[in-house]
Amino acid sequence: MDELDIEKVLNFDENEFLKDVFRQVKLESMKTIAKEKKELMKKPKLVDLFLEVTSRCNARCEHCGSSCGDFMPKDEITKEELEKALLDIHNAYGGKNVYLFVTGGEPLVRKDLFDIMKYARSLGYNWGMTTNGMLINDKIIEKMKETEIKTISISLDGLKETHEKFRKVPGSFDIIIDNLKKLQKLDCLVELQVTTVANKKNLHELESVYNLLLDIGIKNWRLATVDPIGRAKANDEILLDKDGYNYVFNFIKEKRQEGKIKLEYGCSHYLGVDNEMELRDYYFNCGTGIHIGSILSNGDIFACPNIERRKELIQGNIRKDNFVDVWENKYELFRKKRANTNAKCKRCKSYKYCHGDSFHTWNFDDNKPNICMKEILGKDFYV
Ligand SMILES: C[S@@+](CC[C@H](N)C(=O)[O-])C[C@H]1O[C@@H](n2cnc3c(N)ncnc32)[C@H](O)[C@@H]1O
Ligand code: SF4
Ligand code: SF4
Repeated sequence: MDELDIEKVLNFDENEFLKDVFRQVKLESMKTIAKEKKELMKKPKLVDLFLEVTSRCNARCEHCGSSCGDFMPKDEITKEELEKALLDIHNAYGGKNVYLFVTGGEPLVRKDLFDIMKYARSLGYNWGMTTNGMLINDKIIEKMKETEIKTISISLDGLKETHEKFRKVPGSFDIIIDNLKKLQKLDCLVELQVTTVANKKNLHELESVYNLLLDIGIKNWRLATVDPIGRAKANDEILLDKDGYNYVFNFIKEKRQEGKIKLEYGCSHYLGVDNEMELRDYYFNCGTGIHIGSILSNGDIFACPNIERRKELIQGNIRKDNFVDVWENKYELFRKKRANTNAKCKRCKSYKYCHGDSFHTWNFDDNKPNICMKEILGKDFYV
């Protein structure tokens, strides 16, 4: 029998031991997810389809990743074109197996939106929408009810002055708060969420937004960090630095511990084993092009709409291609290892969980991640 190491026994730290066990458990789950991802890259399965129904918008947000405005583009997809694509997808995979995330621009500027969603429902699709919430009124709520919307996420980027300045729409804050209160009574909704995009101009107000959401009875809050895409790329004074990210992450951890609201960090960025599952209830897993696809407002077939719009990344267009053919045969770039193009990621021991971070912030010019949390979180980054 080995001799008892008295020093080890005396120095035994229960907390460190439990932390280590917890890490091992997480690593096992992350390995399983990595294995599943490898399989999906070989055999993709469309689960989430983003419908960017328009690029028009009634706001002019400083961070808008899709640089939206109020001009009416000549090439906006028609109701009939979208419905044809939805029918093709339904015939191949069954509408009920694909969730539609309606987004924009501002989806509610489209007058025929609920006609399209009525058709989608007739094919069995479930659907949700991200909206700036400014155009919601009683009539719209009635249409949401008729088309059985399941999830709504409303964007709120601060208290009144900050939000309205940032979104460039005076008076919008009160409308949103009023609409949030009304939507809480909408029975068909499975989830009503508020999305806040943390940036340099609203960090000081996160605590106040938290208290406001508790006051009005909001149960789900998604707190993302601004990605350097679209208008945010040019407005770099709103982008977060290391301290900013650390502030947001500590804020989320603290509020999650309080347990008064279901608060989650956005889906971007691998956070390292110690932070994974601490800031959101799922492990990082950028599924773009392997279970996430999109149809953009001009009919282009794309991956997640938050990825940089580059000609070479567009996979087809529903005006000339069948979405299903494209989904099954294209998306090559999204289905291969990015490490092969970047030496730093290739050497990184986190690669099998991080995969070069989310495609939102991949730098396609230089083949490198624009954001690497390992650099930002430093010593707290464990694997
Ligand atoms: C593009 S908008 C479309 C829907 C709607 N117009 C709205 O603002 O909610 C979808 C979400 O993306 C967020 N978003 C826009 N630009 C972003 C960026 N650069 N980084 C992170 N999130 C961004 C918005 O705040 C919003 O919550
Ligand atoms: S973030 Fe949404 S509301 Fe703001 S400009 Fe872009 S599409 Fe419009
Ligand atoms: S270098 Fe950064 S982005 Fe690349 S795999 Fe490692 S942690 Fe991810």
